[in-house]
Amino acid sequence: MAVERTLSIIKPDATARNITGKINAVFEENGLRIVAQRRIRLTKQQAEQFYAVHAERSFFDELTDYMSSGPVVVQVLEGESAVLKNREVMGATNPANAEEGTIRALYGQNVQENSVHGSDSPENAAIETAFFFAATDIAG
Ligand code: CMP
Repeated sequence: MAVERTLSIIKPDATARNITGKINAVFEENGLRIVAQRRIRLTKQQAEQFYAVHAERSFFDELTDYMSSGPVVVQVLEGESAVLKNREVMGATNPANAEEGTIRALYGQNVQENSVHGSDSPENAAIETAFFFAATDIAG
């Protein structure tokens, strides 16, 4: 196993409920280290750029409205097999299907307001990390 990094976003439903610390605690309890973190407000255009891969999906407009509706916390997580590990820690996209103890089971509200985003592959982790962070922003 190799130490990897992945891009995580704590979404507006979670910042609205002031539970970013609770979510970060789940990452840390599961061996993921927060090596960069910033709270920002995405514009609609930035949300559209970030989720461009979903541009043809029926939920794209709603998704990008939602992601620009309030503050988010963008972060880089580091750990052994961090991409896969973070996907396990987040749980299924739809909180109704997420395993007990996962972030989306604990805190997600519905398939859109599901509290966290995580990169789905090491390749996308590199692309998504570069969207928000310079190498000098990350201290492992
Ligand atoms: P995320 O991991 O951020 O990647 C794309 C997001 O689209 C996903 O989490 C969901 O929050 C959101 N989304 C909204 N509706 C759907 C849907 N029907 N199926 C999958 N993802 C959806």
